[in-house]
Amino acid sequence: MSAARFAVIGQPVSHSKSPRIHAAFARECGVDIEYTAIEVAPKELANQLATLHADGYVGLNVTLPHKAAAVALCAGVSERAQLAGAVNCLIRSDDGWRGDNTDGEGLLRDLSRLGLVVAGARVLVLGAGGAARGIVGPLLAAAPASLTVSGRNPWKPEELAEQFKPVGTVIPRTHLALKGDAYDLIINATSAGHDGGVPRLPPGLLAAGGACYDLSYGAAFEPFAAWARAQGASVVADGLGMLVEQAAASFTLWLGPAPDAEAVLATLRAG
Ligand code: ATR
Repeated sequence: MSAARFAVIGQPVSHSKSPRIHAAFARECGVDIEYTAIEVAPKELANQLATLHADGYVGLNVTLPHKAAAVALCAGVSERAQLAGAVNCLIRSDDGWRGDNTDGEGLLRDLSRLGLVVAGARVLVLGAGGAARGIVGPLLAAAPASLTVSGRNPWKPEELAEQFKPVGTVIPRTHLALKGDAYDLIINATSAGHDGGVPRLPPGLLAAGGACYDLSYGAAFEPFAAWARAQGASVVADGLGMLVEQAAASFTLWLGPAPDAEAVLATLRAG
């Protein structure tokens, strides 16, 4: 029997670490898979999803810029993907693709790996775009003392808070209106690091012993990491662990076994 086929689709996608991560998972779990990266332009998304389904692909990961657009192209989506308004993992079904979102689960697993406890913590998410929407549901489910989402202007945080009302309370703020607050965990879900920056934030936001986490990794992580260190953060973590953990969650949805994310993460960090 030939290997079950999987792919990550995105644009650009050649830099994706997913093929390497899933190849390592497959070796560890003793399953035979083929996992490739396929460049897909936005206008080709619907066609490509149909073609990959017809070609017998078993599962797909979806990355930028397709995570939101792919929702409407699925035969059905999980509740958490519906809430996030985005899918990152597609599972084959007879009548098309079933969409899911393992990003938030990946974050929660990584926080737990790092010993960062959300339950009872005052949590701040910087940014109210797609990346933030993907993690807010799982964060609320982890029972923080409070969950605040901030943006440069109030509209996106307010809209997000309204949307998540059935799930839990999100406090919407502008970054500058956070003045005087203290948080135990600050998560950067903005894309500011890709432009070499950090959102403009008031001083003193991080409580004593507080930790900082960025959904980005690599060069995009550096500006927030520098800010976090300057605040005296007890832990300053990038999102590489989340990337591996969301992949592990996808792998389990497709194939059943739960691979060891820690081992693959160590390999990726080694370069
Ligand atoms: P999207 O979901 O739209 O793809 P994202 O990657 O989730 O975007 O992150 C975009 C977020 O980064 C936005 O919420 C934006 O914040 P605002 O709501 O304040 O506009 C934030 N962002 C992008 N560039 C930024 C910058 N230079 N400084 C601060 N925040 C920035």
